[in-house]
Amino acid sequence: MLKTAICDLFGIKYPIIQGGMAHVATAELVAAVSDAGGLGVIGAGASEPGWVRDQIHKTRKLTNKPFGVNILLISPFAKEVIEVVLEEKVAVVTTGAGNPGPHVPRFKEAGIKVMPVVASVALARRLERAGVDAFVAEGMESGGEIGQITTMALVPQVVDSVKVPLVAAGGFADGRGMVAALALGAQGIQMGTRFVCSEECVAHPAYKQALIEASDRATIVTGQSTGYPVRCLENKLAREFLTKEQAETSIEEIMEFGVGKVRLGLIEGDLEWGTLLAGQICGMIKDIKSVRAIIDDIVAGAEAVISQLCDNRGG
Ligand SMILES: Cc1cc2nc3c(=O)[nH]c(=O)nc-3n(C[C@H](O)[C@H](O)[C@H](O)COP(=O)(O)O)c2cc1C
Repeated sequence: MLKTAICDLFGIKYPIIQGGMAHVATAELVAAVSDAGGLGVIGAGASEPGWVRDQIHKTRKLTNKPFGVNILLISPFAKEVIEVVLEEKVAVVTTGAGNPGPHVPRFKEAGIKVMPVVASVALARRLERAGVDAFVAEGMESGGEIGQITTMALVPQVVDSVKVPLVAAGGFADGRGMVAALALGAQGIQMGTRFVCSEECVAHPAYKQALIEASDRATIVTGQSTGYPVRCLENKLAREFLTKEQAETSIEEIMEFGVGKVRLGLIEGDLEWGTLLAGQICGMIKDIKSVRAIIDDIVAGAEAVISQLCDNRGG
């Protein structure tokens, strides 16, 4: 019932993508998602190219299903990571924090499917002309680096503006959200925060627990002044960022202050002085379960919602 154009494009069972997440989307999570019928995506983040290659090899040992790599275009290693991905011929590339346009032809020549993350209609239109295969339209309720438009407003506008299939991201964690995304014209969903709260994710247990205990209003956005706004749980560090931004601290100083903080939060579990990336949907996530259970519950939930909607109209 839930098969869409995205399933055919990537050769996957369910139109559920695991967002490439710096530090925490490693081979363990990626292979589990792909094995459970979704598309796992390695988060290259700001990691060195050798690490990315190792993760690709590790993932291939764990699963024979397709998976992707997310390239963070602002990474100091972005160029080298692109070369690794081309050499390794991974099935799918997603990109974050920038415009991958100039690299699209080389990915296409290598037979790699390209699915950039966009937060505006203008960028989607431009990249469609560059020949991408699909988009992730990501709303500002997402965890991590965000744009300025909500998922609800962004998705139908991008759907109306491009011809290639689109995946909605930002605020999804259950079957109701999945059906809502499909109703808006998306062909699937991408989730980040929900997959962090999985058994297979290597994120620190304290960070996962903080996500589970978080309420609907637990996140704030830091980094607006730098041009790279980031949604994370409010903690001492996030408040310190805001104080610095209000004091009109220079962008360079704020960027410097942020170095290493994401790793400190996500991997070392420092709940006060680490950046705890989180989407607004964290308020609805109340358990840590296996990736397979997460995906199966979403698929079953979506099918139940669709049946209910059909019942509502009397058949
Ligand atoms: C911990 C974390 C790290 C992330 N890192 C990246 C990243 O490196 N590149 C990227 O394109 N998106 C990144 N994102 C965004 C996710 O891939 C995904 O699009 C987003 O989490 C979807 O919104 P949700 O959190 O409401 O599910 C990250 C999100 C989280 C929660």
